Amino acid sequence: MKKILFIVLGILIVSAGVVFALQNKQTENKGVTNMTNKNVLVAYFSATGTTKRVAQNLAKATGGDLYEIKPAKAYTSDDLNWHDENSRSSVEMNDQKSRPEITTGDLSIENYDTIFLGFPIWWGTAPKVVHTFLEKYDFSGKKIIIFATSGSSGLGNTANTLKQSVSETATIIEGDVLNSNPPVEDLKQWIKKF
Ligand SMILES: Cc1cc2nc3c(=O)[nH]c(=O)nc-3n(C[C@H](O)[C@H](O)[C@H](O)COP(=O)(O)O)c2cc1C
Repeated sequence: MKKILFIVLGILIVSAGVVFALQNKQTENKGVTNMTNKNVLVAYFSATGTTKRVAQNLAKATGGDLYEIKPAKAYTSDDLNWHDENSRSSVEMNDQKSRPEITTGDLSIENYDTIFLGFPIWWGTAPKVVHTFLEKYDFSGKKIIIFATSGSSGLGNTANTLKQSVSETATIIEGDVLNSNPPVEDLKQWIKKF
């Protein structure tokens, strides 16, 4: 009888241990705020500075590193004229294969697990230069949370479109359009979602 009691007690203790460990693991995985933040990168492309401001605050909110995706040739205001179907941005956005060159900055992507990736919405989606960035580095196994700024559009199908530029083991998570330049404190709340 005593032996059975010991066995039952043993099983109960082991089960409690397993449940505790699992709960801990779940909390660990929840939220960028629980990470060391050394492994968070905030990468952004910004043609006119709006997304840049959001990215700067997001880097402060996450404690992550900030990285600018720079086109080898900067966009002029003529390039950005969406009323002109022959402008550089119109031509690029109409060409599925367009991959505008980017400068290769000092980026060691292997140092990061979580990447916040920001850009302006162009023609309802991400500028092609964002695809260039995703195809230039190896994002296997990494978590990429996208955010954007826009005149009024949402992210639409952007996450799915960007998935085509990363390996299958990379996870692209739809963040939000962050218009109105949210302050750092608001962004600290926002990142808890991921
Ligand atoms: C070529 C081009 C296309 C755009 N297309 C859209 C669009 O489809 N929907 C939208 O709401 N805003 C659109 N915009 C507005 C930008 O998304 C918005 O101004 C953004 O905040 C600019 O960010 P940036 O300053 O970081 O470049 C477009 C802007 C440009 C230059």
